Amino acid sequence: MFKSIYFRLVATYLTLFLVIVVVISFFSTTLFYKEFTNQIEDNLLNAGIKTNSLMERYYNNDITKTELTAWIDAMGYISNIRIYILNPDASILQQISANDTLSVNDQLKTDIRSAMNGEKVIRMTSVSLEPDSEEVVYIAMPLEYNKNISGVIMIFTPFTEVNQLIREAIITIITVVIIVILIGTIAILRVSINISNPIKQISEYAKSIGKGINVPDVVIDTDDEIAMLGNSFNEMKKEILATEQMRKEIVANVSHELRTPLTSIIGFIKGILDGVISKEDESKYLKIAYDEANRLKDLTKDIVDVAKLESGSVTLNKEKFVLNELVQDVYIELEEMVKEKNLDFILNEKSKKIVVNADKAKIRQVLINILNNSLKYTDKGSISIYVEQFQGKAKMKIVDTGAGIQKDKIQYLFNKFFTANDYGDATTGAGLGLNIVKTIVDMHEGKVEIDSEIGKGTTVTIIL
Ligand SMILES: Nc1ncnc2c1ncn2[C@@H]1O[C@H](COP(=O)(O)OP(=O)(O)OP(=O)(O)O)[C@@H](O)[C@H]1O
Ligand SMILES: [Mg+2]
Repeated sequence: MFKSIYFRLVATYLTLFLVIVVVISFFSTTLFYKEFTNQIEDNLLNAGIKTNSLMERYYNNDITKTELTAWIDAMGYISNIRIYILNPDASILQQISANDTLSVNDQLKTDIRSAMNGEKVIRMTSVSLEPDSEEVVYIAMPLEYNKNISGVIMIFTPFTEVNQLIREAIITIITVVIIVILIGTIAILRVSINISNPIKQISEYAKSIGKGINVPDVVIDTDDEIAMLGNSFNEMKKEILATEQMRKEIVANVSHELRTPLTSIIGFIKGILDGVISKEDESKYLKIAYDEANRLKDLTKDIVDVAKLESGSVTLNKEKFVLNELVQDVYIELEEMVKEKNLDFILNEKSKKIVVNADKAKIRQVLINILNNSLKYTDKGSISIYVEQFQGKAKMKIVDTGAGIQKDKIQYLFNKFFTANDYGDATTGAGLGLNIVKTIVDMHEGKVEIDSEIGKGTTVTIIL
């Protein structure tokens, strides 16, 4: 569980979140505290300076003692501070209210001494002068008169207020943090679930597919990498299913294609052996069995070729040769058979000596497969071969005036075991010939195109 993406995401986000929140609260609190104490400090210093000038006026007899006391009293009251004016020996020279006594601890004594030496002492960390008394902060500054230090001014202000404010600020921050963490956690959980659920689903589906169980498409409504993964997975599933389907079809097709000729061969031989076929007919049926056996041989070769080509184990044995010569050889080889069917066989070479760099044996197989089709599916008219140079490449065209192929079937002709029409006995093909053609031409990075019209004929164009 701790290794899951889900957990890692949540843990990472939350840690990051907490760190950020802690850092921000720490800084904001410190800043707040500093700002606040600065302000207090300024107030105390101002009050100190004012007190000093009041004392100067008192010493100069500009104001009476009553006035002095009233002024200092008012200042203390307004600013919520306590002002003490101490003699150099730290005895109280002047204080706000009569019942106010100053308890002097060691810290204070040291600070008073420093002030006597002309230093300004600012204590902003709260101290409590007496047990149970409130926390205070204070300043101690020299009382200057005629450039002499004639005592010390001490001003105190309660600090509880500050503490209170800071506490409130911290509580507010914590509340905000908790709310933010709650919202953040919910958001993170949602995001994590959105990420991890599809991945989990894909992995489960993948397992099922591995076991051969069909699964529905993965549905992801986002538009991100996960959705891309889901789409790729669906693509892959489709491919696998299609391949599996194809494998089943091929097995079924192959066994069917092999069984049909074998059944008739066995049937004829049995007929002869059992004496069901008469002596006169024997040679006729043997001839059929012989043809069927030959066809079976060709078919097995085609099946092996397709399998080999498909496995990718076949490599091209390329050489430079004159294409016209190869075409002429094939022409001569098939001439007899074409003539037997009373068809015109025309070799039309627009350019002599077209040199190609290709696998001669395989190009020969291509030509023979295409010409065999023309021969098989043409009953009258002609079969023509054109050889020409085309945009620096070699172009071969085989044109027949045969049965033609329905337009909507042309796109499937290169599929394995696809046969387009039914011409009775003439079309006992397995539908492998053009698949072999296409694979070989593709291996040569060439192009093969078929154009055909029912009843008019077919044109196969190859560019190498
Ligand atoms: N020249 C053509 N004229 C009419 N139909 C054709 C022609 N060439 C191919 N076809 C159609 O295309 C189908 C596929 O051809 P392909 O050569 O792949 O298989 P096949 O000839 O039936 O069998 P195989 O070549 O394996 O013995 C044929 O069954 C046929 O219906
Ligand atoms: Mg064929």
